[in-house]
Amino acid sequence: MTPPKPEARPDKVSLRSYVRLFRKDILSAQPARLYRAWMAEFRTPFFRSFLLNQPDLVDMVLKKRPDDFPKSARISEGLRPLLGNSVFLTNGEVWKRQRRIIDPAFEGGRLREVFPAMRAAGDAAVARLRAQVGEVVEIEEVTSHVAADVIFRTLFSIPIEHDIAAQVFSRFRAYQRAQPILNLAAFVPLPRWVPRFHSRETRRNAARIRALIGQLTAERMAMISAGTAPDDLATKIMTTADPVTGERFDTDEMVDQVAIFFLAGHETSASALAWALYLMALYPDWQDRVAREAAALEDDGFSVMSRLKVSRDVFRETLRLYPPVPMMVREAICSERFRDRDVPKGAQMVLSPWHLHRHERLWDNPDGFDPERWQTENGKTCQREAYIPFSAGPRVCTGAGFAMVEGPLLLSMILRAYRVERMEGRDPVPVAHLTVRARDGIWLRLRPREDV
Ligand code: HEM
Repeated sequence: MTPPKPEARPDKVSLRSYVRLFRKDILSAQPARLYRAWMAEFRTPFFRSFLLNQPDLVDMVLKKRPDDFPKSARISEGLRPLLGNSVFLTNGEVWKRQRRIIDPAFEGGRLREVFPAMRAAGDAAVARLRAQVGEVVEIEEVTSHVAADVIFRTLFSIPIEHDIAAQVFSRFRAYQRAQPILNLAAFVPLPRWVPRFHSRETRRNAARIRALIGQLTAERMAMISAGTAPDDLATKIMTTADPVTGERFDTDEMVDQVAIFFLAGHETSASALAWALYLMALYPDWQDRVAREAAALEDDGFSVMSRLKVSRDVFRETLRLYPPVPMMVREAICSERFRDRDVPKGAQMVLSPWHLHRHERLWDNPDGFDPERWQTENGKTCQREAYIPFSAGPRVCTGAGFAMVEGPLLLSMILRAYRVERMEGRDPVPVAHLTVRARDGIWLRLRPREDV
C-alpha cells in the first residue's frame, strides 16, 4: 500500500465549489495536474495566484529575491490575535532585526546544549505511554503533548506539567478549535476592504495565552536581572542584542516571539512525528530497523544523533510525503514575467512543499515511501532542488536544525520502547489546516517492544 494521499478534485470546478472544497481542506481542493505542472495560475474575480513548482522559480522567490516577494499579509490575519508582531508575520526591517536576535539561539552549538532537555521530554513521553500499552491510541494527541513538552523544556526549562505550560497548551487547543488556525478568508483572499472578524472567543483565548506567556517572560526578565536565569533558549534570546542596532527584545516583543516558538515549534513537529509513527506502522520492516538502531541510545550524549541514521532518513522521508507546512504564500510587490506569463503586482505566489515533494516529473516513485532514496542520485538532486519542508533562503525555518534533532530522537526513543501497529480500515486521511493532519486522527495500537 502506498501512503495515503488525498483525492484530487476534478480539473474544472466553479469558484463556489472551489471555496467550498477549500473550506474543507486545502489539499483536496487542488486538481491532480498540480503534481505535474511547473506553474499554474488561478484566477478569480478578486485575486490572481500562481502556484510555482519549477525549481528555479521557487529558488528565485525564496532565495534570490526574497525582498521582492514578502510574506503575504492576508495569510497573517488569522494568526494576528495570537502572534502579534512575531517574526513569523513581520516583513522588511522589523523582520530582519528580529531574526538577527533570534538566530544565534538556534545555531548548531546551542542544539547540543538543549539536547538533554529534549531527551528528558522523550523519557517523559515513553513513561506516559506505558499506561496505554495494548490500547489503540490517538497518536497526534501523544505527539502534540511531547512536542509541547520539548518546547517548554528547551525554551523555559519547565516541563509541560508546570502550571503555566499546561494552561498554555490547553488554551491553545481551545484557540484552534474556535478558529481553525489557517483563516480561509485569508488564504482565498477577499478584497482588502472586507472587514475581518475574529470571534470573541478567539480573541479571549489569544489574550489569555498571551497573558500566560507574559507572566513567563516577565519572571524570566527578573531572573536575568538577578543573575539567576537558567541558560536556556529564552535567556539566550532575551539577552542577545541586535548587532546592528544594539537593541534587545523588550518583554512585549518577547511575548510575540514565544507565541510563535510555541505554535511553529510544536504544531509542526507534532504533525511530522505523528505521520512518521503511522508510516512505521505501515512499514513494519522499517520500524524494526529504526528500533534496532535505537539501541545506540544507551549512550545519552548528543553524539548519539550521528548514529540515528535510519531514523533520520525515515523522518526526512516523512517530511517529504507529509510536509507539516503544506503551502506558503508570498506576494509579488512588482509585476513579473514567469514562464512567458505576466504576473501582476500584488499576485499571490503559492509555494507548495506538498506538490513539489510529490512532483511526478522530478521525483522517482513520488508517492512511495522510500527512505533509501536520499542515497540515490535522484534523491540527492531533488533534496537540493525540490525539497523545502522548512522553506529556504533567509526566511528558512529558524527551528530547522532543532526539528531535525528532535524528530529522529523522539521517533527512536518511542520505537525503542514500543511497537506501533496499524489498524486495518482506519488509515488516516491527510487534510491541511495550518499543518498537515489526519482528518479523524491517527489511530495505532501500542505494544511493548520486547524483541530488541
Ligand atoms: C518538523 C518541524 C518543523 C517544520 C516542518 C517547520 C516548517 C517551517 C516552515 C515551512 C516555515 C516557513 C513558513 C513561511 O515562510 O511561510 C517555518 C518558519 C518558522 N519556524 Fe518552523 N518548522 C518546524 C519546527 C520549528 C521549530 C521546532 C521552531 C522553533 C522552536 C520553529 C520556528 C519557526 C519560526 C520562528 C519561523 C518563522 C521564520 C521567519 O519567518 O523568519 N519551527 N517553519
